[in-house]
Amino acid sequence: MQTSTVSEPPSADAAFPSPHVADEREEGDRRTAPVGITPTPSPSSQGGDEPGRTPVPPRHWVERLSLTGYRNYAGLVVEVGAEPVVLIGQNGSGKTNLLEALSLLAPGQGLRRAAYPELANAGGAGSWAVAARVHTQAGAVDIGTGQTISDNGRQGRIVRIDGDPRGGTGALADLVEMVWVTPAMDGLFTGAAGERRRFLDRLILCFDPSYRTRANRFERAMQQRNRLLADGVRENARFEGLETILAETGIAIAAARAEAVTALAALIAERRERDPDSPFPWSELRLDGEIERALAERPAVDVEDQYLATLRATRERDRAAGRTLSGPHRADFLVTHGPKGMPARLCSTGEQKALLLGLVLAHAELVAARRDGAAPILLLDEITAHLDADRRAALFESILALGAQAWMTGTDERDFAALAGQARFLEVCDGRIAALRAPA
Ligand SMILES: Nc1ncnc2c1ncn2[C@@H]1O[C@H](COP(=O)(O)OP(=O)(O)OP(=O)(O)O)[C@@H](O)[C@H]1O
Ligand SMILES: [Mg+2]
Repeated sequence: MQTSTVSEPPSADAAFPSPHVADEREEGDRRTAPVGITPTPSPSSQGGDEPGRTPVPPRHWVERLSLTGYRNYAGLVVEVGAEPVVLIGQNGSGKTNLLEALSLLAPGQGLRRAAYPELANAGGAGSWAVAARVHTQAGAVDIGTGQTISDNGRQGRIVRIDGDPRGGTGALADLVEMVWVTPAMDGLFTGAAGERRRFLDRLILCFDPSYRTRANRFERAMQQRNRLLADGVRENARFEGLETILAETGIAIAAARAEAVTALAALIAERRERDPDSPFPWSELRLDGEIERALAERPAVDVEDQYLATLRATRERDRAAGRTLSGPHRADFLVTHGPKGMPARLCSTGEQKALLLGLVLAHAELVAARRDGAAPILLLDEITAHLDADRRAALFESILALGAQAWMTGTDERDFAALAGQARFLEVCDGRIAALRAPA
C-alpha cells in the first residue's frame, strides 16, 4: 500500500481515470508518492486464484482510492488489499470523509447526501475528484467522479467508468455493491418514516438497479402534481398524465419494496436458524401503507387502477393539503425486535444498533447471494460505538465470514484488536493516512 499527499492537487478532471490520463497519473504517483505501505498480496480479480495465492471468496473491493481536493484531503492515494480496513483517527481527522468518498463509487449522493459543492476542499479551487480502482463482478474497473469548476462556473457531477463519461451516477448501479451504516442512522427506528423508506430503497437498489429510474419518475411526477395542487390549478387535463405515471410507477415501487422485504425476511429466518443466539437479533419486518396492503390481497393491475381512481377522486382534498396524501411515498417500513416482540422504536439505543446491524448483515448476505457470492463493500462508520466486546467480536466474525471488504472507523484501535492479522490498520491524521500497527 502506498499513501501520498499531493501538495498541489491536479485539476479534478485530471484525476478521473480515462485510459490516457490514468497512465499519466501512474507516472505522477511514482514520482511523488512516498511509498510507506506495501499492500499484502491480494487477489487481482474476483477469484484470486493465481498460482501461489490463497483463493479468497469473490467480493467487491477497492484496491486504490485517490482523492483530490476532497473535503479535508488536498490529495491522497491509498492502496489496500481485499481484506477489511480499519481507519483509526482522532475526531475531525477525516475518517468519515474517506468513507463518504468511497460511498460516491455507488449510485446516489453518498452517505451524507451532501450537496456536491460542499465536498470541495474549503481551501482549494472548488473542484473535487474521487477516483478508484474497484474489483467488481465484471472484473477490475476504474471509476472516477467529481465536479470541476470552469470559466462558466461549476459543472454537474461527472462520472467516468474506465474513462468513458456516463450520464449520471445510475451507471454505477450495476457495478459496485455497497452497504453502509453511519451514526446518523442511529435514529432510523425513532425518526421520520422517510428515513426508513430511504433505507429500504437503498436495499432494493442493490439488487434492482432499474428501481432508481422508476423511483425518480415517480418523484418527478409527484413534485409536478404537488406544484399544480399548490398553485390551485383546476384543469383536469393537466393532472391526468401525471397521475397515470404516478399509478404505474407507484405500484411498481410498492411491489419492489414488498419483494425486498419478503426476500430479506427469508434471509433473516435463515440466519435465525443458523445462529438463534446471535447478538444481532432477528427482526420482523412489515411494510405499512395502503398500496402495500392492497398488493398483498389483489393483483397489481387492480391496485394500479384503484390508485389512479384515488388520485382522481382526491384532488380537492390534496389541493386543500397542498400535497398528495395517498401513495407509496407515505408508506412506512416497520421493524420489530424478534426475540423481545418489541417495536424497534421502543428498544434501547444498543438494542437498536444491534437490530440495525442484524438487518444490514442480512442484507449484505442477500446481495452476495444474488451476486454469485460476491459480498458487497461495507462502510461502517463508528461501528463499535454502542457495541460491547461480545457484539464487536460477533460483528467482526460476521464480516470475515461474509468475506466483505469492510471499511470501519474508530478512535481507538484496541476496539478492533480481534481483527489483528485479518484487517489492514491505517491511521488517519489531519487528512493524511499512514500505516498503523495492528493492536496486540
Ligand atoms: N469541504 C471541506 N473542506 C475542508 N475540510 C472539511 C470540509 N468538509 C469537512 N471538513 C473537515 O474535515 C474534517 C474531518 O471530518 P470527518 O467528518 O471526516 O472527521 P472524522 O475523522 O470522521 O471525525 P469524528 O471522529 O469526529 O467523526 C473536519 O474537521 C471537517 O470540518
Ligand atoms: Mg466521523
